[in-house]
Amino acid sequence: ARIEKAGHKHFMAKEIAEQPIVLADALKAYSTADGKGIELPNGTLDFTKCDRLTMVACGTANLACQVAKYWFEQIAGLPVDVDIASEFRYRKPVISDKSYALFVSQSGETADTLAALRYAKDRAAMILSVVNVPESSIARESDLALPIMAGVEVGVASTKAFTCQLLALAALALKAGHQRGHLDDATLAAHMADLNLLPGILNQSLALEKSIKRVARKIASAQDVLFLGRGPMYPLALEGALKLKEISYIHAEGYASGELKHGPIALIDKNVPVVVMAPTDELFDKTVSNMQEVMARGGKVVLITDAEGAKEASDGVWETVVMPGISPFLAPILYAVPAQLLAYHTAVAKGTDVDQPRNLAKSVTVE
Ligand code: G6P
Repeated sequence: ARIEKAGHKHFMAKEIAEQPIVLADALKAYSTADGKGIELPNGTLDFTKCDRLTMVACGTANLACQVAKYWFEQIAGLPVDVDIASEFRYRKPVISDKSYALFVSQSGETADTLAALRYAKDRAAMILSVVNVPESSIARESDLALPIMAGVEVGVASTKAFTCQLLALAALALKAGHQRGHLDDATLAAHMADLNLLPGILNQSLALEKSIKRVARKIASAQDVLFLGRGPMYPLALEGALKLKEISYIHAEGYASGELKHGPIALIDKNVPVVVMAPTDELFDKTVSNMQEVMARGGKVVLITDAEGAKEASDGVWETVVMPGISPFLAPILYAVPAQLLAYHTAVAKGTDVDQPRNLAKSVTVE
């Protein structure tokens, strides 16, 4: 079927808006009938047989893996490596037969990711993949290919595929945690209840578009933008910076908040907007103190937080985006939305080609 923009100006806008629906579909595909547990859509897996998870991907899919590392370690007590496919395939990484290797790819055709998969397969690791295209090479060559149910994604900058990859990985981490005895039935059911609220909460966050558009117009005149986050919000900071540079061509970097004083703080002045992604979680106060260091040097902070965080920390910030509240576990999925909207509206304000940014391809099938 021909894919249309359905009244949106760009495919990217349509794909951002579709997220509550596709996430609900994905959640359904990963839930047991009673909604209290996880059932993998395409088969079964035993995470008690695995002593290490190696996740490999490129681009935005790699950032989904970086978020999932926090989940697998915290929820399932499973050691995780995350690598970029082009590095992994040539590094001669050590893979044991008790390793599970997991490849994440929207297209399922990225050349480096496929080569990395074949490397791991030659070493007898269990090969898992999280893909959007079920008939793709990566899906076909996996022992178990898990779908993300995002539907066709046309915009070169990945949006709904990223949040759906995160959802599939969250489900997998919960499954692993339950099987490995790190999560009891009740805790798993509580996480599932939180997951069931996610599509609705994400839908509410789309209503922030107007305020994000205003911030985007201000950011459009910047030459450099920094994104900061801690814990699982660190990969989100990387994703925010990646999206912004891909489609608006503004130089942007994501940093772990704690690394600020090891370099990027030297760049801070009144011309460098700093986007701080900080839901109220156990690391919130630490991120806020990094944010204050930025403000003390004249940096202009865009704080993306929830109502509680805004009340506590928005004094002196340039702009605050107040997100709906969410369980800390799922915050990385929700906070993808303001990152996407900020990049999108900045690109629109600059008049760049949002869906087909220069020099980039949707699927990189050559090395
Ligand atoms: C390209 C796309 C990105 C994508 C990356 C990995 O760079 O522009 O949006 O994240 O490839 O693609 P994959 O299909 O493997 O997820």
